[in-house]
Amino acid sequence: MANTDTNPSQSTGMTQPTDFVIDLPAIRQRARENLSHGAVTANYQADRQAMLRLLNDALATELVCYLRYKRHQFMSANLGGIHGFAITAEFAQHAAQEQAHADWLSERIVQLGGEPDYDPAQLTAHSHAEYVAGHTLEEMVEADLVAERIAIDTYSAAARFIGDKDVTTRRLLEKILQEEEEHASDMSDFLQRLRVNVSK
Ligand SMILES: [Fe+2]
Ligand SMILES: [Fe+2]
Repeated sequence: MANTDTNPSQSTGMTQPTDFVIDLPAIRQRARENLSHGAVTANYQADRQAMLRLLNDALATELVCYLRYKRHQFMSANLGGIHGFAITAEFAQHAAQEQAHADWLSERIVQLGGEPDYDPAQLTAHSHAEYVAGHTLEEMVEADLVAERIAIDTYSAAARFIGDKDVTTRRLLEKILQEEEEHASDMSDFLQRLRVNVSK
């Protein structure tokens, strides 16, 4: 049977259509409709409500992580020890970055016509990561490493789930994911140093 699945440009020397072709009059017409939807156009490929739930769960996760790092920042300052000062500074930096992640997610939620949920009563129910108080430096760093690893897995899964349906949201989650991987790496380094120190 003849293979009909050939590339015309290779088999016949004809050029493939390479121009970016769009129905501009239709796009212009649609852009003028439903102006109250803001950034969400008729071509939006994702399930908007599902995307808002996903983003609000991520927001809850970031807020819980922010709160946990803030406790660790202030509690570690009193624990001192050979790594105390450096760990306190790291906790403070991570807290600030988790807060920034929360802001980015809220901004996207509003762009999609939703409402960011800051209700404290809802946070732990929706957060992927847990709030672990921690009483020693090692307990704190271990709790943060676990939370970062949970965030890495959930952001990776969310990015794969979204695919090309909402590129902006996927890229936002990937940007956050990159910082969570840096956080996990930082916490892993500190945990190893603390354990080496304890075993001496
Ligand atoms: Fe984060
Ligand atoms: Fe993080």
